[in-house]
Amino acid sequence: MPALEEALAQELDSLRTRGLYRSPRLVREAQGPRVRIDGKDYLCFCSNNYLDLAAHPEVKDAASGAIMRYGWGSGASRLISGTMELHTALEKELADFKRAESAILFPSGYMANLGVISALVGPGDTVAVDKLDHASIIDGCRLSGARLRVYPHGNTGKLDKILRESSGSPRRLVVTDSIFSMDGDLAPLEEIARIARQRGAWLMVDEAHATGVLGAGGRGAAELLGVEEEIPISLGTLSKALGGSGGFVAGSSVLIDYLRNKARSFIYTTAPPPATCAAAIAAIRIVRRDAVLRESLISKSDRIRNGLAALGFDTMGSSYHIIPVLMGEASHAIEASDALFRKGILAPAIRPPTVPRGKSRIRITATAAHTDEDIECLLEAFRDVAKSSAALHQEVRANVPKK
Ligand SMILES: Cc1ncc(COP(=O)(O)O)c(C=O)c1O
Repeated sequence: MPALEEALAQELDSLRTRGLYRSPRLVREAQGPRVRIDGKDYLCFCSNNYLDLAAHPEVKDAASGAIMRYGWGSGASRLISGTMELHTALEKELADFKRAESAILFPSGYMANLGVISALVGPGDTVAVDKLDHASIIDGCRLSGARLRVYPHGNTGKLDKILRESSGSPRRLVVTDSIFSMDGDLAPLEEIARIARQRGAWLMVDEAHATGVLGAGGRGAAELLGVEEEIPISLGTLSKALGGSGGFVAGSSVLIDYLRNKARSFIYTTAPPPATCAAAIAAIRIVRRDAVLRESLISKSDRIRNGLAALGFDTMGSSYHIIPVLMGEASHAIEASDALFRKGILAPAIRPPTVPRGKSRIRITATAAHTDEDIECLLEAFRDVAKSSAALHQEVRANVPKK
């Protein structure tokens, strides 16, 4: 067996050779439409801080007020002595917001997926997922020990077949993203809910990127598509449009009571700091009262998408606020991302294993706080990307679906 460092260094070298090595950029000061890196301001077109609530004054006040009153830590896990009044206040706020009987808070969306899926299904059961579901869903399925069946992206016919074939499983669970995090398209929730109901399977929808953004009330894609009543297990995060961190599940009182007793990533971890709960409550209240924020985000996103399409880029049939710009090979995505960075735009290359091979991309996301000039700068920078790399542009153009 090779020595530890030798083995790891070899693997890192291999990542570098294949253009898959990643390292973070250090952002100084607060998250917002602009971020400061190495003493210079960059337009940030890649965060999930969609409504610019990460450093909103009301949210900051709520967090600092809570720190002064409750301190920094919660001291223990939720079922020992860590449940403080702000945890239950946030869970009540989440349940009200989602129009559900009850809600349960997790330290992150990742942990919510791990905990919920592994609590609901186990060995002998079947879990069906969309090919493009988020990594945390896949990890939750693997942890559960249930049989994992993957259907091609959005293919409800295949989902139906999986559920028919697995009718002997004691429990069958379907899990899908609502808006796909890297592709920006919506799952056919109405059809998925119909099939799950017809085949007697349970359904869980991950609204991580839709929470706060989609639907007239900001409750997510299920609200937008008018199928909220059809989704018994609704997962969301506080880490995207709500600007902070944390994950949650909203549903019936029995479901939430069960998860409190069975979800290991809820039980065996220290309760989130009370200040994050206070900040989340403030953020949810802003979302509930201010529809203009999400409307502005969507109209800015539409402008960007149309501008990119006019330049010949393939935005992969996305809609709403997540805009993938297909580059193909990882090296092309890196080239484009570097060119954007030189023009003052932060938008890293998204590469395998986050997306399939040959589908590397730049994932553009605006915030409600970007200005018209910011959007012009972004499109101008992409114009240069298109010009400066004729080969790349040709490849990307070749991917534009023929009308
Ligand atoms: C669909 C989806 N679910 C869950 C998560 C995990 O959420 P968190 O970042 O709060 O852990 C993400 C994060 O990107 C996501 O895209």
